[in-house]
Amino acid sequence: MSGDARKTAEGLSYMTGFGNEHASEAVPGALPEGRNSPQRAPLGLYAEQLSGSAFTEPRAHNRRSWLYRIRPSAAHPAFVRTGNGAIRTAPFTETVPDPNRLRWNPLPEPPAGTDFLAGLWTLGGNGDATQRAGIAVHLYHANASMERVFSDADGELLLVPERGGLLLHTEFGRLHVEPAQVALIPRGVRFRVELLDESARGYVCENYGAPFQLPDLGPIGANGLANPRDFQAPVAAYEDVEGPVEVVNKYCGNLWTATYDHSPLDVVAWHGNHVPYIYDLRRFNVIGSISYDHPDPSIFTVLTSPSDTPGLAGADFVVFAPRWLVGEDTFRPPYFHRNVMSEYMGLIEGAYDAKAEGFVPGGGSLHNMMSAHGPDRETFDKASAAELEPHKVDDGLAFMFETRWPIALTPHAEGADHLQQGYDGVWEGLERHFRPSH
Ligand SMILES: [Fe+2]
Repeated sequence: MSGDARKTAEGLSYMTGFGNEHASEAVPGALPEGRNSPQRAPLGLYAEQLSGSAFTEPRAHNRRSWLYRIRPSAAHPAFVRTGNGAIRTAPFTETVPDPNRLRWNPLPEPPAGTDFLAGLWTLGGNGDATQRAGIAVHLYHANASMERVFSDADGELLLVPERGGLLLHTEFGRLHVEPAQVALIPRGVRFRVELLDESARGYVCENYGAPFQLPDLGPIGANGLANPRDFQAPVAAYEDVEGPVEVVNKYCGNLWTATYDHSPLDVVAWHGNHVPYIYDLRRFNVIGSISYDHPDPSIFTVLTSPSDTPGLAGADFVVFAPRWLVGEDTFRPPYFHRNVMSEYMGLIEGAYDAKAEGFVPGGGSLHNMMSAHGPDRETFDKASAAELEPHKVDDGLAFMFETRWPIALTPHAEGADHLQQGYDGVWEGLERHFRPSH
């Protein structure tokens, strides 16, 4: 953490648009014109392609970037295994899948000197990273900036900070992300995390599947939900560092390390569409009912990772942002629910409108496939009796990772001291009101 880093973070400029073909050069003339791989790349740089999709995927899904760098990525020594810390990867087979509703308090304070990577703690997940299907849900709690560089071959990383600003130094340039914003690091992109505050805490969805994309809007029309122009990509910025730099690579579930003789964040210019980005959740255009009923929360989808089945997501990232509730003759909080999809929820700030207590910022709840959930007793009683004036829900920012398969826990999530006991109690005392005749 340093004042300089915050000043740097706040002074950053970005390129805008989701999925764009961006182009950026940190040094004028570094980007070749008219071709990707000239006989000699400008300024003595090496040209390298980073493919985020198979070469032959349809144009709409094709992702790649061309990087112009001081040294090619191939210039590295052998990786050797290193400890995985509290990071685990699908398939998750160490615990018995649990049909119960589960809820956790925030991660405890980590030991001094814990960087983002050391502070990653896997709650659970599904699918199989080697099959490029499914997700992992991680939390992080860090109190030191990374000196080392990290990349994840297993999936893209959606960072959802809950406490503390981050300056992300990536191969593509720098991104500043604060709570209420999210950042996405694509598969394979190297980065390190510099803390802008004493500590940093948040959530990560590691998506092994198809890259997150914006959901289709159907009858909503051409605008709404997360608008493409609000996504911000970095401009090129590079480190010209000669000297030992540790690079950690997450590969098929394990961490591997190598000490480079230079920084791999040495990309002077780049162009392409396989890029990191940030998005401010407060920009989300919340669409809801203006007549009756609570729409299904898919209406709050920010990003979706589609599967081969239309409409069935490997992962949806959903935000419950401030919004007006105006439904007439409507139970306005999220309804009672059983779902073939599995729902992990976290809270970025404030409170969530279906839970009066116990669901706290930095904590999380898991309602797995077909587990019955919904408003707690207190929320039900209040909402059933409320005067249905227009009401603004603006006291919190919650999100959900919703996924097609049940989330299996890691042993350390199942046995965590911060796993709440007695979560079922929030649905106790829901009284019988049934009267066969009236
Ligand atoms: Fe639900």
